[in-house]
Amino acid sequence: MSGKRLWWRDCLIILICASIFSLFIMLWSFSIPNSAPVTNDQVTKDQVTTGQVTKDQMTTGQVTKDQVTKDQVTMDQVTKNQVTKDQVTMDQMTKGQVTNKEKLSKTPEAVFAERRQRIQDICMNDPDAKKGGLRGIYTHKPSGVIYCYVPKAGCTFWKRIFYGVNQGKDTMWKVFSRFSRMEVHIMAQYGVPYIEEKHGVKNYPIRFTVARDPFSRLLSSYLDKFYLPDFWTQADKRKTIIPVKNTGKIDFMRSHFDSLAVQYDKNFTANSTSKVKKCWKYITFAQFVQDSLVNKETHWDPISTLCNPCKFNVTNLSYMETFPQDAAAILDRLGLHGYMDNKDRDYQVIDEFELLTEYNFAKLREDKRVYQCTSAVELAYRLWNNFKWRGYIDPKVDYVAPISTDATHIEKNLLQQLVKARNSGIKNRAELKAFATEFRKQIYLTLPKNVFQELLKKYALDIKLYGYESKRDKMISLMNNVEG
Ligand SMILES: *[C@@H]1O[C@H](CO)[C@@H](O)[C@H](O)[C@H]1NC(C)=O
Ligand SMILES: *[C@@H]1O[C@H](CO)[C@@H](O)[C@H](O)[C@H]1NC(C)=O
Ligand SMILES: *[C@@H]1O[C@H](CO)[C@@H](O)[C@H](O)[C@H]1NC(C)=O
Ligand SMILES: *[C@@H]1O[C@H](CO)[C@@H](O)[C@H](O)[C@H]1NC(C)=O
Repeated sequence: MSGKRLWWRDCLIILICASIFSLFIMLWSFSIPNSAPVTNDQVTKDQVTTGQVTKDQMTTGQVTKDQVTKDQVTMDQVTKNQVTKDQVTMDQMTKGQVTNKEKLSKTPEAVFAERRQRIQDICMNDPDAKKGGLRGIYTHKPSGVIYCYVPKAGCTFWKRIFYGVNQGKDTMWKVFSRFSRMEVHIMAQYGVPYIEEKHGVKNYPIRFTVARDPFSRLLSSYLDKFYLPDFWTQADKRKTIIPVKNTGKIDFMRSHFDSLAVQYDKNFTANSTSKVKKCWKYITFAQFVQDSLVNKETHWDPISTLCNPCKFNVTNLSYMETFPQDAAAILDRLGLHGYMDNKDRDYQVIDEFELLTEYNFAKLREDKRVYQCTSAVELAYRLWNNFKWRGYIDPKVDYVAPISTDATHIEKNLLQQLVKARNSGIKNRAELKAFATEFRKQIYLTLPKNVFQELLKKYALDIKLYGYESKRDKMISLMNNVEG
């Protein structure tokens, strides 16, 4: 099929464009910048001492050596404000510098041991902490590893890995290159529901799971599943979405949809929401969040209900915010040494462009209802916004729709434009981060206060178990500083 051909051609493009490095992308695909480190001080400090930002900027070739007086850049960035802190967090993920330096200060073993101790203390002292079960797992018997997967927290990455290690050497070459996201979805079958009698967590000495700040995860779910078409049809069929009354309040997302409708829906009246029933494509973040409070779904249910760390007796707790370091240690255990080497964030972003674009265009071709609801150009435009809001591409560059209406051409052309906007964007990484942070702020401000309060309640246990108090407090102060 044409996806195959695309794949090879794209591989070539990547090889050329993305130099030698590669990395963990699909994780960040979802990782909204601005996610607070787990133990804020610790991670930030680690990063400061590594000179990571400096190195990272150097690798891009965009920053001249003079700019890169190590301590200067690093300290400036860290002392300044949130944006810079977030940036450091993201930059930390580039392989190499951090891990080297962290090895000097704290071994992965020590980090895992500390986190485990924390979880164990909470499990022991808070009877509520054990509420929740274990849903889906992947195992690798030979290395004694069991992974409890959390959707929207790096699970695409880990699915690939477990698929590969369990299939044997012949499949590993594929893991080391790429699976399309469509394939990864199909691979979900290799994860299985956890059954205590059959699996028994105690049979696996390495028990790991990945946590993510609930506010990032929720926003990521929204963008991935409702701003992009993934759940448009399911929303209808499975009644997972209750249409929320249009209060007439103009919020950030609604005015975005209004302009989108004017641009792409020929018969648009003033009533953009009237299309919601038909296509579910104008569901705002506020609507989504209100609905998510009622309708359970693994992409936004609290992590502690899907992979309760007390019941799982987690030994190696990983975080999205420190994913590469954590993953490298676990990959070693799976016998996959060096998998994280020579991979950098820029490669990963390009990879994510391709995965997400390929997946959504396949959806457009194969799902009749999605096809009826949106055009290839509108889909391209939404993908573009998604990447822009996540801080992957230069926010000053606009998407330019090609004349042709051929979906394959539009898809290919979109990827070219994305790569260009990426190259332009990385000349000013602080701006990318600031843009993503501002978007996140704007979209959270669309939530009614009572809905935000409900969110705090819903994710209280996650926040406590995984130590996201500072992230929560930041959100609270954001919401409190606004009327309404
Ligand atoms: C993971 O957890 C196990 C069991 O507690 C521990 O022995 C190991 O050091 C941890 N870290 C790594 C990198 O495996
Ligand atoms: C727009 O309206 C016209 C006339 O009301 C109708 O024939 C056409 O199918 C509509 N187009 C769309 C895309 O809904
Ligand atoms: C908008 O929708 C409401 C209710 O669905 C309807 O009463 C109203 O006439 C619509 N307005 C326009 C301009 O289509
Ligand atoms: C968790 O595992 C440890 C051994 O790694 C064991 O001593 C402890 O009893 C287990 N805790 C629970 C709650 O199963």
